[in-house]
Amino acid sequence: MVQSCAEASPMKWHQAHTTWFFETFVLRPFLPDYKPFREEFRRLFNSYYNSLREEIPEKQLRSSLSRPSLDEVLAFRAHVDEAMERLFAEHVHDDAARRIVLGLNHEQQHQELMLTDIKHAFFSNPLRPAYDPILLEAARDVLHRDFTWHRFPGGVTEIGHAMDPSNPLDFCFDSETPRHKVYLEPFAIASRGTTCREYLEFMNDDAYARPEFWLSEGWETVKKQGWRAPLYWERDASDSTGWRIFTLRGGHPLSALLDTPVCHVSYFEADAFARWRGDRLPTEAEWELAASGRASCGNLLETGRLHPAIASGDGMNQLFGDSWEWTASPYTGYPGYKPLPGALGEYNGKFMSGQMILRGGSCVTPASHIRPTYRNFFPPATRWQFTGIRLAAQRSQP
Ligand SMILES: [Fe+2]
Repeated sequence: MVQSCAEASPMKWHQAHTTWFFETFVLRPFLPDYKPFREEFRRLFNSYYNSLREEIPEKQLRSSLSRPSLDEVLAFRAHVDEAMERLFAEHVHDDAARRIVLGLNHEQQHQELMLTDIKHAFFSNPLRPAYDPILLEAARDVLHRDFTWHRFPGGVTEIGHAMDPSNPLDFCFDSETPRHKVYLEPFAIASRGTTCREYLEFMNDDAYARPEFWLSEGWETVKKQGWRAPLYWERDASDSTGWRIFTLRGGHPLSALLDTPVCHVSYFEADAFARWRGDRLPTEAEWELAASGRASCGNLLETGRLHPAIASGDGMNQLFGDSWEWTASPYTGYPGYKPLPGALGEYNGKFMSGQMILRGGSCVTPASHIRPTYRNFFPPATRWQFTGIRLAAQRSQP
């Protein structure tokens, strides 16, 4: 039932809500003899779909739902699983298949949220429990290597997912379509994510107290929230850096993680860091061009590390996994964008104001969930997700 910040949800709610998705959008419309588990759940576990014409419970009340019990939520899941098996036993209509694939991707998003919500809940508990008690491995390659700039000549390119409408299993979110042309000026993009060591230089230059690096709303947020470091960084006089970091594998001195990518920074911090360096964040089109044609592999959920890892090897690194990378692009519809019909059109389209695009997935994103065209989005002050920085620049030489 724990819900430690406004963005997070209790684990029991995640379990019930992902189950609700299949009951609401697949079983009720497509399985003729389906009997809902409990009629009230239709309203109780609706997250934000207003077109279902119900009063949606306040998000902050999710931690107050002592009933249904976990046992009843698990029974709800078993009931829905059994009905899904019956659905699969017959011919599955293409529209149902599309919704089932969407439901699976929805569940993967919630699996990621569960880990980020647990991390926040454990950090909020003075006992500081570890989700996985095995400490992160000591770094084998601790040599600090500067990143390199990968230069692109610019020109007309295409971004977005080219959907095959005839294949109901060809999945992307509606906001990744249509594929379309964009024009890019020549640009350079960093070969890896920004590290904690690089970010610490920004902090040690007193950047959190210098308004010249910050967007207006960012500066107001820094002052109001008292930000002096990324989320989960705490002062620790016993470490040479003066800091320690809380992870899903417990607390670690910052000196042990200096060359890992910085994470849990807001868009405002990512943008200020880039400005302090004289660089900038990539646009989402630049990021997608740099990632196009590359396999979506990296330090994702399946590595079990649960924290960003040091970049290895030459060439482009860490595009997928480790930390989501903030881009300079606002979340808006691509030219010709059409949300899905009906209530599912609320999945993405209605959030297209006041949010910034992130790319590439994180160390808690399932590998089969991410792709080069994937557009994640959060408000610019968000820090509880694994969100980090990759620099870009207009100049051809750093
Ligand atoms: Fe959801």
